Amino acid sequence: MNRDTRIFGTTEEEIQQAAQLIRDGGLVAFPTETVYGLGADAMNAEAVSKVYEAKGRPSDNPMIVHIAERNQMNMLTNEITEDMKLLMDAFWPGPLTMVVQAKEQVPRVVTGGLDTVAVRMPDSKPTLELIRVSGCPLVGPSANLSGHPSPTSHLHVDDDLHGRIDAIIQGDNCRVGIESTVVDMTEEIPIVLRPGIITNDQIADVLNKPVEFDPAILRKPEIIDSGSLLETNSDYVPKSPGMKYKHYAPKAEMIIFMGDADKVRLAMAEEKMERMSYGQRVEVLVYDNEDPSKAAREFFAQLREFDKTGVDVIFATALDEKGVGLAVMNRMFKSAGYNIREIK
Ligand code: TXA
Ligand code: MG
Repeated sequence: MNRDTRIFGTTEEEIQQAAQLIRDGGLVAFPTETVYGLGADAMNAEAVSKVYEAKGRPSDNPMIVHIAERNQMNMLTNEITEDMKLLMDAFWPGPLTMVVQAKEQVPRVVTGGLDTVAVRMPDSKPTLELIRVSGCPLVGPSANLSGHPSPTSHLHVDDDLHGRIDAIIQGDNCRVGIESTVVDMTEEIPIVLRPGIITNDQIADVLNKPVEFDPAILRKPEIIDSGSLLETNSDYVPKSPGMKYKHYAPKAEMIIFMGDADKVRLAMAEEKMERMSYGQRVEVLVYDNEDPSKAAREFFAQLREFDKTGVDVIFATALDEKGVGLAVMNRMFKSAGYNIREIK
């Protein structure tokens, strides 16, 4: 896996070169509005299996397929419903992923063996161009080592994957900062499997019908055991396989403080003093409930920054679990391994 990782800009010529690498079965990381993705030809099973290897990702965790034109949907599925069209009109290109019935031609290494496939059209000019010039849809899991915080700049990708992939396209830093909303469109009632910046209410408004959450989003597991979360109710199998793994973890210990804002501030200050008296380095993330999008944009980058500077403990304040705040908390709980201090 010792590759020479090239860094490309976004000129036409560099996109052509990146597309050639994709056509040759290579791995090219690309910018999106959410987080950086690790691209490979989605119709090339061998290339896709190299993506799992480069990320160290369990192979039952399926990948999102990225398209640049709506007609590329026809390569992936036979069923494009009215609801799907409404969501495409409203949100594509943008941070919404739809899970749909997969055609037989979609390699099962992409779907982790499932008969459904997750698809989105990212809102990034160079990446849409890369997909067009490559002439194929691209798989694009987040371009980090499995378990690490997701990458929101090309430098984060380079830190994790240098020498493991063929190229990185250096685009803008990601303006959303957390991954796309994933919605299962295979049933009559759409089910959100992963919350994101596009909220259930927004989807429900467009479709003019109720939208549900997968219960795994709201439930906190009881035990965390060697990287796999054991659900409280062991009969429960999460619908989105990605939800059962430990995720986004900084190297530092991380604690989420929940409760009344003033009491939380006091409790954090006290514990910070105490920890510092033991010689620990403590950093604090305080988020504004009025601006959860800012928290989304900054969260992963802050975790990576702390890791670089050798922080021992991270304290973070919780956001209200609604709308975009819910999407941020979904990541924060996993990053902290559900290490929560409830302040009464
Ligand atoms: O914003 C994003 O979605 C980013 C950027 C790069 O586009 N990509 C991303 O991919 O987050 P990844 O592979 O890290 O996350 C894919 C998520 C996982 O939670 C996975 O379990 C779920 O989508 N997923 C993929 N295919 C699925 C399927 N057929 N059924 C249910 N869940 C699926
Ligand atoms: Mg990921």
